[in-house]
Amino acid sequence: MRRVCLIASLWILVLCLADSAGGSTFGCLACHSAMKGKIKAEKGLVDVNVDSEKYSQSVHGGIDCISCHKQFGANPHQPQAQGDIPADVAALASNMSHKAKVDPVAVAACAECHGDIYNSWKESIHGMNIIDKKQSAGAVCTDCHGSPHYILPKSDTASPANRVNVVKGCGECHEKEELAKEYGFGTHILERYYESFHGKKYILGHENAPTCVQCHGYHDIRKWDDPKSPVAWDNRMETCGKCHEGATKKFVTAITHKPIGKDNPVPYYFEKGLILLLLGTFLFIVGHVLLETYSEIRDRFFRKGKEEHHE
Ligand code: HEC
Ligand code: HEC
Ligand code: HEC
Ligand code: HEC
Ligand code: HEC
Ligand code: HEC
Ligand code: HEC
Repeated sequence: MRRVCLIASLWILVLCLADSAGGSTFGCLACHSAMKGKIKAEKGLVDVNVDSEKYSQSVHGGIDCISCHKQFGANPHQPQAQGDIPADVAALASNMSHKAKVDPVAVAACAECHGDIYNSWKESIHGMNIIDKKQSAGAVCTDCHGSPHYILPKSDTASPANRVNVVKGCGECHEKEELAKEYGFGTHILERYYESFHGKKYILGHENAPTCVQCHGYHDIRKWDDPKSPVAWDNRMETCGKCHEGATKKFVTAITHKPIGKDNPVPYYFEKGLILLLLGTFLFIVGHVLLETYSEIRDRFFRKGKEEHHE
């Protein structure tokens, strides 16, 4: 009996703390830092634990949970009136809900404080995949920056966006065969990068070797042939020129990690041309040999015969 009372009073204490904190981080953490484990939700497992120490050390350590989880008002989980969620965040949340596991409003909330970044992301190939095409394969903020609760500054080597981790991060999606097939980009992109001049230097820790983002950008990544992409033909001299002073038109064709295919016409037709040239040469030689043999035979048997006949 005493034990039940104790548990009950602890619960009441927690609820009071939570309630008096009025939906503040402190209140949310009263439960969420103590709870461990995962619960099953409609779209997979949900980790209920938020490590309060890691949270406080993250870039958002000074921000309330409900700055992102705007659906939650007073504890625990009392839903906020729809009108209390800013209209643009609510609209965005409904546009991105297919990419969220439990709280689309929290996923959309990043746009409120990082508006400029959100705007350039929205126009990127990754943003358009989610917002315009309504698919979920493209990258949202947390796909590149890691768990929303423990985001670190990009200068921290533990951040997925840091130079030392970013290549692997892009590879997590770009190495997937199914995605490559579905969206028509080349497979084994990491392998091809690591084998390039740049990749080799990157592995050796060369500070100036470009990672994916020095060539493609990061929030505004576009299809490589989009005129606004830094690696589109017209912009490539400038992009490569940042490190290779005076890069010429010829120089910038030196890098390609695109597999040979019809959508990459120069090497494609170059290769086809080479094959034709080779076949042509081969046929020419064979034809030449055949004709030579024929004239030999003709000379030996017919002409000779005729000549003898004349004599
Ligand atoms: C009294 C304890 C308690 C408090 C306080 C509490 N939570 Fe929870 N929370 C839970 C439990 C238990 C679950 C898992 C079961 C469920 O979904 O209700 C959960 C689940 C969640 C989830 C997963 C998705 C969902 O809706 O199930 C989110 C997000 C969440 N809480 C955010 C918050 C935020 C933000 C606050 C503060 C405003 C908060 N919680 C305060 C107990 C609490
Ligand atoms: C910077 C924005 C942000 C802040 C601040 C934030 N969250 Fe979250 N949280 C998110 C996002 C985004 C998700 C993922 C939602 C989804 O995928 O549906 C999430 C998911 C969760 C989940 C579910 C975990 C899972 O596996 O998806 C819980 C529980 C949760 N948050 C609790 C909290 C608590 C407690 C706090 C305050 C200590 C907090 N959050 C602060 C953005 C935030
Ligand atoms: C309430 C406003 C607010 C919300 C909502 C918010 N952030 Fe932030 N964010 C900040 C502030 C303030 C900083 C730290 C200021 C700084 O150093 O630039 C920050 C820093 C960051 C950084 C670190 C930048 C660096 O230095 O490398 C990233 C990444 C980031 N936020 C991503 C997100 C993501 C992803 C979401 C949504 C899940 C989000 N933020 C939601 C206010 C917010
Ligand atoms: C495709 C991966 C990717 C996506 C998606 C992404 N980021 Fe980033 N972000 C990065 C990388 C990489 C960096 C660091 C780039 C560098 O080396 O300077 C970065 C840097 C940042 C910074 C630091 C300031 C800056 O511009 O350098 C903030 C803040 C930030 N991101 C927020 C966000 C938010 C908010 C979203 C969603 C709207 C988002 N990011 C989506 C990869 C991404
Ligand atoms: C030195 C600059 C440079 C670096 C570094 C670089 N790329 Fe590229 N990338 C290009 C250029 C140029 C193209 C245009 C097509 C071509 O000529 O290969 C391209 C094309 C692409 C494409 C579309 C074409 C395809 O392969 O189907 C993807 C996807 C891509 N890059 C991803 C990445 C990733 C991921 C990384 C990091 C592992 C990376 N890139 C590193 C310059 C670069
Ligand atoms: C969550 C998965 C995911 C992550 C992480 C991701 N991408 Fe992508 N990326 C995609 C998908 C899916 C597409 C194709 C979208 C479409 O066409 O609708 C794409 C398209 C691209 C393209 C255009 C390809 C082309 O055909 O020209 C480039 C370039 C690219 N990504 C580079 C990067 C870089 C660089 C990073 C890391 C900073 C990165 N991506 C991280 C999923 C991802
Ligand atoms: C962020 C800087 C950076 C960018 C951007 C960059 N490179 Fe490089 N590149 C390097 C470094 C560093 C090396 C290694 C130099 C060395 O070994 O001395 C290198 C080496 C090379 C080499 C090997 C031969 C040589 O000149 O050393 C070629 C070819 C090359 N890059 C082409 C390109 C092309 C084409 C682009 C644009 C699509 C490009 N690079 C963009 C930094 C860069």
